Amino acid sequence: MAKRNKISIIGAGNIGGELAMLVARRELGDAMLLDIPEKEGVAKGKALDIMQTGALEGFDAKVSGTSNYADIAGSDVVIVTAGVPRKPGMSRDDLLSINLKIIRAVAAGIKEHAPDAFVIVISNPLDAMVYEMKKQTGFPKSRVVGMAGVLDSARFQCFIAEAAGTSVKEVRTLVLGGHGDTMVPVLSACTINGIPVTSLVEKSALDAIVDRTRNGGGEIVKLMGTSAYYAPASGAIAMAESFLKDQKRLLACAVFLEGEYGYSDLYMGVPVVVGKGGAERVVEVSLGADEKAMLDKSAEAVRGLIADSAKL
Ligand code: APR
Repeated sequence: MAKRNKISIIGAGNIGGELAMLVARRELGDAMLLDIPEKEGVAKGKALDIMQTGALEGFDAKVSGTSNYADIAGSDVVIVTAGVPRKPGMSRDDLLSINLKIIRAVAAGIKEHAPDAFVIVISNPLDAMVYEMKKQTGFPKSRVVGMAGVLDSARFQCFIAEAAGTSVKEVRTLVLGGHGDTMVPVLSACTINGIPVTSLVEKSALDAIVDRTRNGGGEIVKLMGTSAYYAPASGAIAMAESFLKDQKRLLACAVFLEGEYGYSDLYMGVPVVVGKGGAERVVEVSLGADEKAMLDKSAEAVRGLIADSAKL
């Protein structure tokens, strides 16, 4: 009999709860929701609520809550959402010192109890958090990735579909770089069912969309008073599913770069084939001079964050 997959989710807050729901609804495997001892009740309560939804919606999945890292043993995938979300007026970078301490504690738990897992980090500031996760666990780069590009690409896709008046399903987009205001939405790689978007949507509208995408996270923080959770959870699930089912999807993920695109020793968003080997292969697309210059700027911003982390 095939073994059931186990997906552990660290942090049972807004994103964690939605992740557990998606794991169960899609029957990707059993979900373990872990939070700090003070929030163990929340983790257990959400787990029960989701299991009971299964009775109504007709899905089979075991969802459990815990505050004990021993319970993540045997995980195929660990998704990390632990941390403080952004509040209005706070940039992702402001979160650095608070969330760095949390990531270090979480990394120790994963290293000890789930040493073979594929780890997907969502906590912000993403590029610094995922870098720290790799540093602290010592896991190979193929098994420690960050979820950001998938989300930023989805936002870009959504705005383009609206402007072009087409279904979002026909739109393909790519966003590279760090998960911050310097991210690089790549217009040259954006198509509507193969047709270059630049021939279908006016330049001024596209420029506004690029801007809106860069500030897509902040737009939601301003509206809700906390950061987004549905789309971030869906983004991580796309990555987890591609790994678990060896789908080899080409997804924009934050991965550890060792020379690709001319950068080394940093995590940044690039297109990656995700399969049973984890982040299996970085795909290098040719970029225009402007795009490369923007990516250089983004890499600098990420380097700054990583340097700041090293001092904390
Ligand atoms: N171990 C486990 N869980 C922790 C820890 C820890 N050391 N520290 C905090 N948490 C938990 C909190 O108790 C909380 O339940 O992480 C959860 C975070 O949930 P929310 O506050 O609802 O935040 P959420 O919106 O889910 O975002 C989580 O993802 O997108 C990023 O910027 C966002 O960094 C934030 C993270």
